[in-house]
Amino acid sequence: MRFIPIFAALAVANAKLLIDYRGGDPVSKLGTVDMEHQNLGDHVAAGTGGSNVFIKPENDSKLGVPCLHYKRAPHYRRAEVKNLQHNTLSANKKYFIGYTLRLSHARSGLVIFQWKKQDKDAAPKQNIPFHLEFEGANKLTLGYTTPGSNGSNRTAIWDGTFSTGSSMDNVHKIGLAIDTASDCNGKLELWLDGKKEFSRSNLCTWTGDTYPKWGMYRGEAAAGDDSDPAGHTFNSYVYRVQFSDSSKAEVAESAGW
Ligand SMILES: *[C@@H]1O[C@H](CO)[C@@H](O)[C@H](O)[C@H]1NC(C)=O
Ligand SMILES: *[C@@H]1O[C@H](CO)[C@@H](O)[C@H](O)[C@H]1NC(C)=O
Ligand SMILES: *[C@@H]1O[C@H](CO)[C@@H](O)[C@H](O)[C@H]1NC(C)=O
Repeated sequence: MRFIPIFAALAVANAKLLIDYRGGDPVSKLGTVDMEHQNLGDHVAAGTGGSNVFIKPENDSKLGVPCLHYKRAPHYRRAEVKNLQHNTLSANKKYFIGYTLRLSHARSGLVIFQWKKQDKDAAPKQNIPFHLEFEGANKLTLGYTTPGSNGSNRTAIWDGTFSTGSSMDNVHKIGLAIDTASDCNGKLELWLDGKKEFSRSNLCTWTGDTYPKWGMYRGEAAAGDDSDPAGHTFNSYVYRVQFSDSSKAEVAESAGW
């Protein structure tokens, strides 16, 4: 009698998450590092950015737990990890993402997640179908791109409070459920710290090959502007990331739902 539930539990544990990242794991378990200096295309190879820009597993010194530490000095525009590229994902599927993290601080323009189209010029143009971006120090938004024109017609379709700082209260769990139904019949749902915050259908979540990116993008200081170095220095501590193509339950630990 007891063997059956044990076997079932094992079966769940073995269900194949596409990504199952735990703080302290090598970054390759989350994906490929993508870092850039001030200008677009000015890449910094992993491990060569010194203390200015890096993404590395370490123990979060404030909370004493293993994390993936992302750091960006004022004149770096990108420190991200991308994965599931090149037709790994597809239309007419349901994907579930959990993302547990803490940020030292944030400011308008800082992006912490992108659902990114592989070919931003593929018609209908929709460079970043949706993303999570700060509009203020503690206000996170869900930005949506209406396909067409130059592919960058973005609108915030949700916003909520997302605290930043150095305590456990600043650790947040983000849950995303993405339905990639074709013909712009997709659905997007968002949870923050276990609370359902947003749900909308008839969205264009898939207009061509698309993949996820976790990290820190934009919000950098303008070239030559050294007036507020602390305000443009960012640290993100990522404790858990999970990505499932089969069930919400599989990513519960990181999504908090
Ligand atoms: C974190 O600390 C633990 C215990 O002190 C140690 O075993 C582990 O190697 C550290 N991890 C990293 C990534 O430094
Ligand atoms: C796209 O067009 C809008 C105006 O319609 C403009 O503000 C924006 O800078 C353009 N973006 C790109 C990437 O060309
Ligand atoms: C931009 O998107 C809004 C909806 O968010 C839409 O009303 C508007 O027509 C779009 N503009 C262009 C140029 O596509």
